[in-house]
Amino acid sequence: MFNEIDLDKIDIDSGPPIEEPARQYYFIAKCREWVRRFCENYGRCPTASIQTFGCQMNARDSEKLLGILRQAGYDITEEESADFVLFNTCTVRDNANQRVYGRLGELKSLKKQNPAMKIALCGCMMQEPTVIEKLRASYRFVDLIFGTHNIFRFAELLCRTYEEQGMIVDIWEDTEQIVEDLPVERKYPFKSGINIMFGCNNFCSYCIVPYVRGRERSREPEDILREIRQLAAQGVAEVMLLGQNVNSYGRNLKKPINFAGLLREVEKIEGVERIRFMTSHPKDLSDELIEVMKESGKICRHLHLPLQSGSNRILERMNRRYTKEQYLALAQKIRQEIPDIAITTDIIVGFPGETMEDVEDTIDVIRQVRYDNAFTFIYSKRTGTPAAAMPDQVPEEQVREGFDRVLKVVQDTAREQVARYQGQVAKVLVEEINDHDESLLTGRMSNNTLVHFPGSPELIGRIVPVALEKCQGFYYMGRLLLETDG
Ligand code: SAH
Ligand code: SF4
Ligand code: F3S
Repeated sequence: MFNEIDLDKIDIDSGPPIEEPARQYYFIAKCREWVRRFCENYGRCPTASIQTFGCQMNARDSEKLLGILRQAGYDITEEESADFVLFNTCTVRDNANQRVYGRLGELKSLKKQNPAMKIALCGCMMQEPTVIEKLRASYRFVDLIFGTHNIFRFAELLCRTYEEQGMIVDIWEDTEQIVEDLPVERKYPFKSGINIMFGCNNFCSYCIVPYVRGRERSREPEDILREIRQLAAQGVAEVMLLGQNVNSYGRNLKKPINFAGLLREVEKIEGVERIRFMTSHPKDLSDELIEVMKESGKICRHLHLPLQSGSNRILERMNRRYTKEQYLALAQKIRQEIPDIAITTDIIVGFPGETMEDVEDTIDVIRQVRYDNAFTFIYSKRTGTPAAAMPDQVPEEQVREGFDRVLKVVQDTAREQVARYQGQVAKVLVEEINDHDESLLTGRMSNNTLVHFPGSPELIGRIVPVALEKCQGFYYMGRLLLETDG
C-alpha cells in the first residue's frame, strides 16, 4: 500500500524494477532527486498544475496524477504558468477538443517566457491518431503526450521529460492492466470518486468513449472495498462509484459479483455515510439494484439514467438497446419503489436522421419521467464512430430548434421537481463556502440538489439538517437547524 512506502529508501542508482507499482515508486523517487536539484539551483521548488477536461473519470485520474506530482516534490498550483503543466483531455464532443487547442495556444506564449516550462497532454483525446498527427505537426512545443491506457506510468514518463530532448509520445492501443496502490491527492477531504471499472463495451453509435478508453474491465471487489475503507478512515463520508456503465460491473471477474452485490458490501463499511454512482445504462439496470437502493440507508436518492433519445427509431440507430416503452416502464418502476428519488439524464439532440417528430418523442419522455435535471447535448460527429458515417446529418438550424424546445421542457419540469421539498428539512452534506457570497455555505441533499444557507466554514464536510425555505429554480436557500431541531 502506498502509505507504507518510504520513497527515500528506494535505491535509484540501480535499475528500475519490472513489476508495478514498484516500478513507478522508483521513478517517483528519481523525480524527487531532480526536484531537489531544481530547488537548490533556483532557490524555489518547481510548480505543477493540472487542468482537467471531461467527466468524473478524468477528474479522478487527475487526482492520481496530482498525487504523483506531489510525492515527487512539486508545489501544486492552480496557475497555468507552472513549471510543469498537464492537460488531462476529453474528446466526447468536438467542443472539448477545441478548448484544448485554444488553451494550448495560450501555453505557447507562456513557455516563451519560461523556457524551462514543460507541457504535457494526456487523456481521451490523445487516443485519437488524428490528434497526435496534428500535435506533431503544429504543436511542437509540447514535451510529453501519453494516453488513457498507460496513465499509471506517469512517474516514469515524467522522468523521461527531464532526461530526453524533444516531444515524447507514448500511446498504447489497449491494456489489460489495472495498477493498484499509486498515490492520490484528493480534491475534497470529505468525498471521493472511486473507479470500479474502466472502459466500455457498449458502442453506442455516436460515442467515442469505447475507442479511447478501451474494453470494459472491472476492478476486484477486494481492491475497491480496501480503498473505500481507507478513505473512510481518512474521514471521507461520501463515495461516488465510477464507471461508464456500473450496471455491468463484475462481468469479467473470475469470482462472480454484480453491482448490487458490490453496493451491499460498500454499505457495510463504517464511516461511509453516503454512496453515489455514475453511470447507469438503462438496458442493464436490474430489479436487484432497485431493491438494494430501496433498502439502503446510505445510497443516495439520485439516479442518473441517460435517455439520449425518446424515439425508438433513433434509439435503435444509436445502438442503445432499449425502447422508449422499456425506458418509461423502468423509470416508473423506480419511482414506485423509491418515491423520493431524483432521476436525472443525458439527452442528445441532432443525431443523424432525427426529425422534429423524434424530438417530440424525447419531449414526451421528459414530461412523463419528470427529470430533476437533464444535460442536453447537441450531437457532435466523432470520427471513427458508426454515426459519423451515417448519411443524413441534421441541418444546424433544425438542431438548434430541437435543442431549444427540449431545453425549455427540461427546465420547466426540473423546476417543478426540485421544488417538491420546499418547507421540509433535509440532510445536507456541506461542501464549500458559496462562490458568490462568503457568508453562505453550499451543500448537497441526498438527491443531489444544491442548498445554500448561512453558516460557518467549520461545518464543511459534515452532514447537517437544513430547513429548505425557498426553492430558487434549481436550488434551495435554507436555514441551518441545530442538530436537536432536526
Ligand atoms: N457512459 C455514459 C456516458 C458517457 S458520455 C452513459 O452511457 O450514459 C456522457 C454523455 O455525453 C452521454 O450520455 C451522451 O449524452 C453525451 N455524448 C456522448 N457522445 C456524444 C456525441 N457524439 N455528441 C453529443 N453528445 C454525446
Ligand atoms: Fe458511450 Fe454508450 Fe459507453 Fe456510455 S455506454 S460510454 S454513451 S458507448
Ligand atoms: Fe470525455 Fe473521456 Fe470522460 S472522452 S467524457 S473524459 S471518458
